[in-house]
Amino acid sequence: MSFRNDFVWGAATSACQIEGAAFEDGKGKSIWDVYAHLPGKVFEGEHGDVACDHYHRFEEDVKLMAELGISAYRFSISWPRVMPEGTGPVNEKGILFYSRLVDCLLSHGITPYVTLYHWDQPYELYKKGGWLNPDSPKWFAEYARTVGEALGDRVKHFITFNEPQVFIGLAFVDGVHAPGHRMSRAETLLMAHHVLLAHGMASQALRACVPEVQVGYAPTSDVPVPVSDSPEHVAAARNAYFAMPENGDWSWNVSWWSDPVMLGHYPEDGLRILEPDLPLIRQDDMKTIFQKPDFYGQNIYRGIPVSAAGNGTGNKVGDGAGGWRKEKRSPGSPKTAIGWPVDFDCLYWGVKFLYERYQTPIFVTENGMSSHDWPSLDGKVHDPARIDYLHRHLRGLRRAAEDGVDVAGYFQWSLMDNFEWARGYNDRFGLIYVDFETQKRLPKDSFYWYRDVIRGNGENL
Ligand code: FCB
Repeated sequence: MSFRNDFVWGAATSACQIEGAAFEDGKGKSIWDVYAHLPGKVFEGEHGDVACDHYHRFEEDVKLMAELGISAYRFSISWPRVMPEGTGPVNEKGILFYSRLVDCLLSHGITPYVTLYHWDQPYELYKKGGWLNPDSPKWFAEYARTVGEALGDRVKHFITFNEPQVFIGLAFVDGVHAPGHRMSRAETLLMAHHVLLAHGMASQALRACVPEVQVGYAPTSDVPVPVSDSPEHVAAARNAYFAMPENGDWSWNVSWWSDPVMLGHYPEDGLRILEPDLPLIRQDDMKTIFQKPDFYGQNIYRGIPVSAAGNGTGNKVGDGAGGWRKEKRSPGSPKTAIGWPVDFDCLYWGVKFLYERYQTPIFVTENGMSSHDWPSLDGKVHDPARIDYLHRHLRGLRRAAEDGVDVAGYFQWSLMDNFEWARGYNDRFGLIYVDFETQKRLPKDSFYWYRDVIRGNGENL
């Protein structure tokens, strides 16, 4: 056995990172449009005003996708492009753009996977308190319904949220992503609760207006990778993945973000540890949140080597629960250009642990790496490290499928180089090189490598 016959081979992007046209055709401002223009927030003062100019070049980009041979393309909708104020009036030109993109994808045999929220909240809603406002779940449901009604005759796959860990955690706990305010733990937990409610209400809205809809969710977290396959190390890694750290560092906790959606309740250890700062959680809230997704997505880039601590008390550097220890990496161990450590087995263990707990078909909704790519003297972009990274991670994913994990698909991040948030244009994650001066696209070696993997349904990995 290997990848299933209908395995979905895809690539992913997000609106704010590729579209550009940030102030065109009636689009409202997003929090990122504003934040990126504040001094010192984004590397070298860059922003997404133009990015890959995909808004004007999507037809060329879809042709490249067809050449790559992907069966699905995961992109996000810019909420303020379709609803400039976040609620109320709809910008028909914004809808038209996505409608044409969807038609173009379908005419090339590519299935659209639409993410509703990939971090670019309408600035007008942020001014009303953003995710702190108790009406924020309703706003999101109204937006989901608007998109569902506009595209649901052709789009059947929707993902409510991309990485809530980041747009709440990095933005409000660490304060380094838009809108960049550090808030108290009670405030950020309240926002998280609203986001979970928004997931539930948006799922209900989509299920009510899109026939045969498949709703998904795409959180993230580093994956604890056991130092060996022996049962005590595996158990330690599993605990490390799901246990709430005793120090209450909750924002990257898998269970906090996924148990309510997938199992209908917050994890008990989290409720205990975070008790003094919890928002009011009503019984009905859990019913609203528990709109179990049809598929579970997880963005996986990195692992953490973990072993059994042996003393049953846990010993993670700084916190720990459930008898596990974070191992030090060896000097000079592999890192990508952005500085993220590389653990080749993170896809294998990630999807395995998640499937054990949630028993729902799994997609890797993002995986990939940044490297220092440029066109060589021969005019080509050689990116052997990316090929090796993808090769080894996909082997791990295949091994998980062989072990019986219901792995439904894989979206490489990213189709093309793009605006990497606070890191500006410093990090190139694409299979396609983008010259941001000329907007010329140049498929990298990894593009052709991935094309061949897709053609062989991963048999040649
Ligand atoms: C993920 C984000 C995506 C991109 C990659 C590199 O956290 O979802 O937008 O920035 O990292």
